[in-house]
Amino acid sequence: MIPEITATTRLCAVYGHPIKHSASPAMQNAGIDALKLNWRYLACDVHPDHLREAINGAKAMRFIGLNLTVPHKLLALDLVDHIDEAAKPWGAINTIRFEGLAHNQWIPLAQLPPDAENKIRAVGFNTDADAIIRALKEDLNVQPTGAKILLMGAGGAGRAAALRIAQEHPAELWLANRTRSKAEEVAKEIHARTPGVTVKIGYPSTEIDLAINATSLGLKPDDALPCDTGAFNLKQTRAVYDMIYRPAETPLLAAAKNAGCRTANGLGMLLYQGAKALEIWSGLAAPIDVMRAALHRQIYV
Ligand code: ATR
Repeated sequence: MIPEITATTRLCAVYGHPIKHSASPAMQNAGIDALKLNWRYLACDVHPDHLREAINGAKAMRFIGLNLTVPHKLLALDLVDHIDEAAKPWGAINTIRFEGLAHNQWIPLAQLPPDAENKIRAVGFNTDADAIIRALKEDLNVQPTGAKILLMGAGGAGRAAALRIAQEHPAELWLANRTRSKAEEVAKEIHARTPGVTVKIGYPSTEIDLAINATSLGLKPDDALPCDTGAFNLKQTRAVYDMIYRPAETPLLAAAKNAGCRTANGLGMLLYQGAKALEIWSGLAAPIDVMRAALHRQIYV
């Protein structure tokens, strides 16, 4: 039974533009309910021109925290009071926690009474970066360390995934992208940040452990496969991860299953970034199974 909204119900929200298709409210409210917190999580369509006011408004209203999605993740960097050290290398934040100053210490607002008179600050976190690693491990049973990996796509999502995977020290990281120069740029960035990691451009000719789709190909049913099938055969890889989660089975995942690969779609990335945000706000372990089931109901039923 979902508790009634009362005068002490606390709020969280996701800000995006557009936002109406977000599955985060379903996922987060299921998690909040399972943790028996008297909170609610809303979705707000916030135009980028109003992001500053919207963040300050949530701060003034003593929200517990916020999630940020497209197009706010970069813009918000300049709008928070403090950035978590681990978020700094990513140049983007997707989670804000509001904290109050009590006895010279910054305490998450979730731990302070709703009417306490404190100075409040907004702290930015990035829970997206680790979500890909957790999804690969938990949903696909792939440990990126020491693995041979092909990553297709060098846009925003591909770049972030490549940089995060490089931190795990794969044996080989292959970057394939329609616009080759963008893959080369990402390779340069990896060399600068994580020297010693073997990064190659194009497709491997030998067997690999994992292929990842970070392109937008597969969102539409008649999309071509993201890999150049003349240069790479899906039988060469043991596992395939598609960052797309809608549809649940992209043409790539269907072809990968046919080729005998283990497969997983991108739902785990959405789940694990959200679970981490809830943990950052509440200090409690997120109820992963409840949140995953809520996402499934929202997205696939
Ligand atoms: P996101 O933030 O989701 O990563 P993006 O930055 O626009 O979005 O990146 C989209 C990715 O899909 C890019 O790797 C893009 O390739 P280009 O860098 O060559 O543009 C890839 N992509 C999109 N449409 C494609 C298509 N028709 N064929 C091949 N790759 C495509």
